[in-house]
Amino acid sequence: MQISLKGQVALVTGASSGIGRATAQAMAAAGARVAVNYRSERDEAEKVAAGIVQAGGEAFAIKADVSSEPDVEALFAETVKRFGAVDIVVANAGLQKDAGAAEMTLDDWRKVIDVNLTGQFLCARAAIRQFRAQGRRDVSKALGKLISMSSVHEVIPWAGHVNYAASKGGISLMMKTLAQEFAAEGVRVNAIAPGAIRTSINAEETEGEAGEKLLRLIPYGRIGAAEDVANAAVWLASDLADYVVGATIFVDGGMTLYPEFRGNG
Ligand code: BGC
Repeated sequence: MQISLKGQVALVTGASSGIGRATAQAMAAAGARVAVNYRSERDEAEKVAAGIVQAGGEAFAIKADVSSEPDVEALFAETVKRFGAVDIVVANAGLQKDAGAAEMTLDDWRKVIDVNLTGQFLCARAAIRQFRAQGRRDVSKALGKLISMSSVHEVIPWAGHVNYAASKGGISLMMKTLAQEFAAEGVRVNAIAPGAIRTSINAEETEGEAGEKLLRLIPYGRIGAAEDVANAAVWLASDLADYVVGATIFVDGGMTLYPEFRGNG
């Protein structure tokens, strides 16, 4: 079975690298036109868009800080101007600013909540307003699809990362609340919770000795690739997942299965 997103427009935030980049590329490979959002890595985002165009797709790179209300408004307005609609939004942009909670600055707490949680709220609100404004299109069974990029840390507490874990815990219930609120209008809101995926956000933890240690937490025995997450996003956005509403898909090689209990407890 071939997954097709032909005729649809996908907006992916934080798409200049990592999971966002792979998701933008996978959406394009499935036939969607893609808005490749970035905040600071302009060259990288331009490369992602150019790669999609070279492969015969349609894409453009667009700067926006998802924690800024006017930036998010402009991001959606420009995407609609360029491509006429928005059918799929992947709220992916996120960051870590790690510190023990006793040492964490208020700035670092706020920054992570602003980008990871408030940023996703702003994108979700803009997406729902746009889905309503454009109405039903004959490209998909749903009025629109919103995919929240969460983390295994929406359920796994993470010492030394309280801002990040709180943001992802917040995303979990924000996603479910939005799904409950807008399902009757035909909006499908879901989340993906990646585990340890090799990207720049966790380069230190996934390489060398640290990587070996990390593997003990992954029953499936390998660190994930960004494409593992991107494939789930394409499926979730497609009509093959039309009855999936308010779900979190864990793409984590089993990290959430309490692997430390193997032979213990
Ligand atoms: C974090 C990574 C971490 C992974 C598993 C992700 O949400 O961004 O840094 O490796 O969770 O702990």
